[in-house]
Amino acid sequence: MSTQHPVIRPRRLRTTPAMRRLVAETRIHPAQLILPLFVREDITEPAPITSMPGVVQHTLDSLKGAVRDAAAAGLGGIMLFGIPATRDATGSGATSASGILNRATEVAAVEAGDALVVQTDLCLDEFTDHGHCGVLDERGAVDNDATLDRYRDMAVAQARAGSQLLGLSGMMDGQVAAVREALDDAGFADTAILAYAAKYASAFYGPFREAVDSQLQGDRRTYQQDPANRIEGLREAALDEAEGADVLMVKPAMSYLDVLADVAATAQVPVWAYQVSGEYAMIEAAAANGWIDRDRAIRESVTGILRAGAGAVLTYWALELAASEGQA
Ligand code: PBG
Repeated sequence: MSTQHPVIRPRRLRTTPAMRRLVAETRIHPAQLILPLFVREDITEPAPITSMPGVVQHTLDSLKGAVRDAAAAGLGGIMLFGIPATRDATGSGATSASGILNRATEVAAVEAGDALVVQTDLCLDEFTDHGHCGVLDERGAVDNDATLDRYRDMAVAQARAGSQLLGLSGMMDGQVAAVREALDDAGFADTAILAYAAKYASAFYGPFREAVDSQLQGDRRTYQQDPANRIEGLREAALDEAEGADVLMVKPAMSYLDVLADVAATAQVPVWAYQVSGEYAMIEAAAANGWIDRDRAIRESVTGILRAGAGAVLTYWALELAASEGQA
């Protein structure tokens, strides 16, 4: 008897890079990467975002090159955010055809052609002077149903500008049903909805506030979810799917992989995840200090999100990951 010698040796499949590559269960493919892009109205040159090294606010002109690069890299899509020069209480810039996000969408749609899917953030926070994702009532609280009316108009404006997939990130109750109805009534039955179904009130959105020059005082806890809650995430996802969402999103990614795995296991539509600004900034900052291996940390973080069940990932590293496709 040689009981000290195991017969079953999982290490056999880890012996060489070629063997490890062959048995890998999860791969990062450019088609499942979506690059978020920021477009700012009042600048003439692309402007760096300090807390997101390597990410810039684009001009309408520099956006063209960014879209071409994304298409050339074989990315699945881009997600556009607009930063307007002026803001007001109802976020007028969001619904005006000449608003920065709608103009950027037109530009991006032309550049993208059929190469990738042009997506837009559908939320009022970049456009309101108070920075909330909706309009406020007389007591200063976010008015759910009045906000739905603004989202309806915003959806039609975005579809008209050429967005193919609307990213509903405001976490208002009934937003998917409201936007679906508005799109259908306006003749945009083929414009799809990406519902940020489970979106948590997260500290990891920190750098994004700089990226969009956020005006927010306070927080979004009356509409975004409490990080403590998992079942609530499943409820939100089920509601959005029932209201007609074409794709569901879990956000942020890394701290919510359990929610992502649960939603991916039960949803009948694609489920994606958003690796948010703070997740990006943490790895970049640690790597800049020499504390972690940047490339490995990036790949490991995105691999983990895919392994948990995401069909696609929004990530600020999309271009870089696509370029290194096939690396171990
Ligand atoms: C809302 C929106 C936010 C992000 C995407 N859409 C900010 C928020 O909800 O506070 C964050 C994305 C990121 O942090 O990378 N328009």
